Amino acid sequence: MMLSWEEVLQGIEECRDCSLCGGITHKVPGQGDIHAGLMFIGEGPGADEDLKGEAFVGRAGQLLTRMIAAMGLTRSQVYICNVVKCRPPQNRTPLPEEMEACMPHLRSQFLLVHPRVVVLLGATACRAVIGGHVQITRDRGRWVERKGFWFMPTYHPAALLRDPLKKKDAWSDLQAVVEKMKELGIYPAEGITENRPAGE
Ligand code: URA
Repeated sequence: MMLSWEEVLQGIEECRDCSLCGGITHKVPGQGDIHAGLMFIGEGPGADEDLKGEAFVGRAGQLLTRMIAAMGLTRSQVYICNVVKCRPPQNRTPLPEEMEACMPHLRSQFLLVHPRVVVLLGATACRAVIGGHVQITRDRGRWVERKGFWFMPTYHPAALLRDPLKKKDAWSDLQAVVEKMKELGIYPAEGITENRPAGE
């Protein structure tokens, strides 16, 4: 059943379906353009996100902002969220049962945003969304198409902070995302140029 945004956000706020909510300050549903053609999915909130109730606002988030800017976009033109909406203790990887418990929220967000292209940030997001055994160094940069939706696995920005040598590959993945958006006619900058009356 298709929920409204209000219902989805309320469902996240009231959710007690796993034990993660026991140790948090704020739920972190995600934010951005709810009609975006491009969605970013990370793993789960860290300390900064937990304090603010917003996804990707810490150091990794600042790098994500720069990655989005390098694609010629702004954060407000995309939708950004995580697999789990509550911060796992000590920022550990969410357990399979925690991800499973949280999936209905992500599914509802996906149905409402209806993005054509999704960037999966790191192995956890890949495992949760496309499944199977993911090795991010092996599987990044390769499109996965499901029912007309395009998924691009790439490195999590936190991995890029730990190992800046990975940035070159991440950059090429994001360039492929821009190309795909252009191909699908959903790259905003191109839309503006194309819609400009002749002579302007
Ligand atoms: N790492 C994530 O996966 N998500 C955030 O929101 C912040 C850091």
